[in-house]
Amino acid sequence: MNQKLYSKLIFELSRPGRRGHTLPQYKAETTSPFVLPAKYARSSRPALPEVDEPSVVRHYTNSSTNNFGVDTGFYPLGSCTMKYNPKINEAAVALSGIGSLHPAAPASTVQGALEIYSRLQSLLSEIGGMAEFSLNPFAGAHGELTGLMVVRTYHASRGEGEIRRKVLVPDSAHGTNPASAAIAGYNVVECRSLPDGTVNVDDLRSKLGPDVAAVMMTNPNTVGMFEKNIPEIAEAVHACGALMYYDGANLNALLGVARPGDMGFDVMHINLHKTFSTPHGGGGPGAGPVGVRAGLEKFLPMPRVVRDSDGSLRVLDDDTMSPAERTELDPLGRVSAWLGNYAVFVKALAYILTMGKDIEQVGPLACLNANYVLHSLSDLYELPIPGPCKHEMVFDGLRDKSTECTTMNVAKRLLDMGFHAPTIYFPLLFHESLMIEPTETESIETLDAFIKAMRDIAREAAEEPDLLKTAPLATPVRHPDENEAALHPKVTYQSL
Ligand SMILES: Cc1ncc(COP(=O)(O)O)c(C=O)c1O
Repeated sequence: MNQKLYSKLIFELSRPGRRGHTLPQYKAETTSPFVLPAKYARSSRPALPEVDEPSVVRHYTNSSTNNFGVDTGFYPLGSCTMKYNPKINEAAVALSGIGSLHPAAPASTVQGALEIYSRLQSLLSEIGGMAEFSLNPFAGAHGELTGLMVVRTYHASRGEGEIRRKVLVPDSAHGTNPASAAIAGYNVVECRSLPDGTVNVDDLRSKLGPDVAAVMMTNPNTVGMFEKNIPEIAEAVHACGALMYYDGANLNALLGVARPGDMGFDVMHINLHKTFSTPHGGGGPGAGPVGVRAGLEKFLPMPRVVRDSDGSLRVLDDDTMSPAERTELDPLGRVSAWLGNYAVFVKALAYILTMGKDIEQVGPLACLNANYVLHSLSDLYELPIPGPCKHEMVFDGLRDKSTECTTMNVAKRLLDMGFHAPTIYFPLLFHESLMIEPTETESIETLDAFIKAMRDIAREAAEEPDLLKTAPLATPVRHPDENEAALHPKVTYQSL
């Protein structure tokens, strides 16, 4: 392949008048309703590249190989659960009866689609130990916001909406937790962690009071540690009239082993786009269903899917509510267009059903893989919180600080070795955070190859630090200015 030619932008290959197609002249009558009225037509041609067909094909084919995904290689991005998503789940979404559905189709004509929705609601309730789930929210953060709006509606229904103004969030929490609480109108109060990474229960207790609406917790938390004091915390939180919120972004680690509802959580969300067969990252479509314990169902958002006494399914909304439902329910309102991200639901249901009882092995295998990596690297990489961990671990850079090689250098060198980088500089608890989440879908051979690469990098840091500091050497783009790229990204072609 002529790297030089095809590494050019497609705009740079453009030649005036060059075409990749021959289409017959369009002969519609000018009075035809399909002809765009002249007032809407552009006066000048759009600035699109003018290229021949082979150049277009090569452009897209070569561009696709510049990318990295779970289907290309190991993707140990901590906190993102980048596990392999079985292709059969994608095939389920592509079935014509599913892929071509219209969201406004009358419920009587899409009973099968609503059955998929309703079954997923029930299975998530079973998995989470909750009474009911709303599938509406589009992401984890959106689920958090929706869950906190349930909390707010609940307190308002008891006349305490104006009194309970605080939400407690551990200092290890994902940034979306305090952000969601603030957007839901709450004052965020941070709770400290202990040196072992778990929440300091005494500190949390000292912040509880009649003005607290909820405590948000993640379990395992964002440093991969199991919060073993949840029952004690839940008791104290409930005693002061507040609710327990479970951030289910890390549910993969507990799948088949423990249920948030059994631990004492009242409201939770699940990132379907981590645990249930939609890849996380890249800003693609996701879903953050929200579950509630018995007694809080009536506050869930609209629309919902309910089963009527004749067995048929109905989309419950303002227009379809019976007078009895209108009196009984106190929904917080709408949080999404239609019922949510349907394709993500189909994949999640396909995943749960095809896994069957094997789903009980997901959490244990994810933890086993993580601990294997942890123990294979902890002599060379600084481990501020000793294991065992759950599904992921956080190193604080290389042990040998004399090399002055940073976590950024390690991450960039990994790209040369064919691996996606781990999450870096998150969580903010350590200076050189390097967070690895291998997931349960990786084989021992893949883990061993990754461990070898990480060990080789530690050796390079000691023997050839300058090499490490100039990595990556083998990627299509080598050294973008990270600050410039984040602060002033140029995402459209600008001719010189
Ligand atoms: C612990 C935790 N909570 C919440 C979120 C937010 O989820 P989303 O990115 O879908 O909004 C994430 C995302 O990675 C997370 O790791």
